[in-house]
Amino acid sequence: MSHILIGVGGGIAAYKVCSVIRHFTEAGHDVRVIPTRAALNFVGAATFEALSGNPVSTDVFDDVDEVAHVALGRKADLVVVAPATADLMARAAAGRADDLLTASLLTATCPVLFAPAMHTEMWEHQATAANVATLRERGATVMTPASGRLTGTDSGPGRLPEPGEIGLIGDLLLDRADALPHDLAGLEVVVSAGGTREALDPVRYLGNHSSGKQGYALARAAAQRGARVTLVAGATTDPGDPAAVEIVNIDSAMELEREMSRRAATADIVIMAAAVADFRPVAVAGSKIKKGDDGPVPIELSTNPDILAGLVRQRVRGDISAETVIVGFAAETGDADGGVLDHGRAKLRRKGCDLLIVNAVGDGRAFGTEDNTGWALSADGRETALPFGSKTLMASRILDEVAAVVRNGDRHID
Ligand code: C5P
Repeated sequence: MSHILIGVGGGIAAYKVCSVIRHFTEAGHDVRVIPTRAALNFVGAATFEALSGNPVSTDVFDDVDEVAHVALGRKADLVVVAPATADLMARAAAGRADDLLTASLLTATCPVLFAPAMHTEMWEHQATAANVATLRERGATVMTPASGRLTGTDSGPGRLPEPGEIGLIGDLLLDRADALPHDLAGLEVVVSAGGTREALDPVRYLGNHSSGKQGYALARAAAQRGARVTLVAGATTDPGDPAAVEIVNIDSAMELEREMSRRAATADIVIMAAAVADFRPVAVAGSKIKKGDDGPVPIELSTNPDILAGLVRQRVRGDISAETVIVGFAAETGDADGGVLDHGRAKLRRKGCDLLIVNAVGDGRAFGTEDNTGWALSADGRETALPFGSKTLMASRILDEVAAVVRNGDRHID
């Protein structure tokens, strides 16, 4: 059980923070909510008290005998500020201590996560950008907001990331305080995720059990590390759209290949986390295949292209920059010919990518589960164990390895 402080700013998105409070209380954490006075215009203190099971105050002069602003900040294992309004981040960046929340931010030594929400003009204003940069320099994690519907009819960057996503990033910071450095700023990342569907006829397809969770977690973590991210997504179990990520939906391996080879041309990092079908029906029937009287209809299959190997070939030909880092995945089981790692090493050589993330599968591991484990094998022989943990944690460790490959290639990362 950890002590979580949830600071609530005065924005319309304050109501969504109720779900963030739930996320942490349901995980068994002790949650204290500190709304600003403005936040109480949107959600009443009684709601925060009922959801957190703890008293709520906004002012340093409440419960003076307990010296709450010092006690709460010191005790916290994580502070989550959501919605982080432009004004609240300005006050935090300036080191103000004129209410209980900003005073607690000055006494907290734990990871601090800001989830901004404001109108696009306010988010893009130089003053806000400077305050965000200051908070990040001091070690806080300031999420990149989502793009979409804002209060009223306007739309654009500045929407509060979904509560589930704030919860996941909060969990990540509890596991690993330094998980989200802003080290991919200025880089373009393309991630594929989910399974392909190979049509048989207008209603049927050949598919697989990929949930897309690991690829989505990678896209989310890369965006929150500052990258411009495109997620080329096949079929998934709907892991929730990550904030600040452009999503391109595809069905088949051939569509995925087209999107990946086009988008890889301008990318700095390409991550193939999709589960691509090895085969597709030779022909797609124009109308639903009938049962017929002669038993099952045979399906003739042809082999799909190996997209990952194709991207490496494109790079060799010069269609993709020699500096683009290409990352593949391998789900392996050991067998008579060797262990999981032996198969992974052979696959890394065969595919020719820079980094191969090897997952041990079987016994209910990896597919569709919340947790993941494996190794990162790099073309220069580095082998790093990626310890058991959530797919979000795994994603952050994989990106550490990717960032190391980018750096070793003498690439500049802001
Ligand atoms: O050969 P295998 O399917 O085990 O390789 C897995 C890796 O190759 C993954 O990164 C997957 O996205 C990619 N792949 C591909 N095209 C295929 C099959 C797999 O890009 N046809």
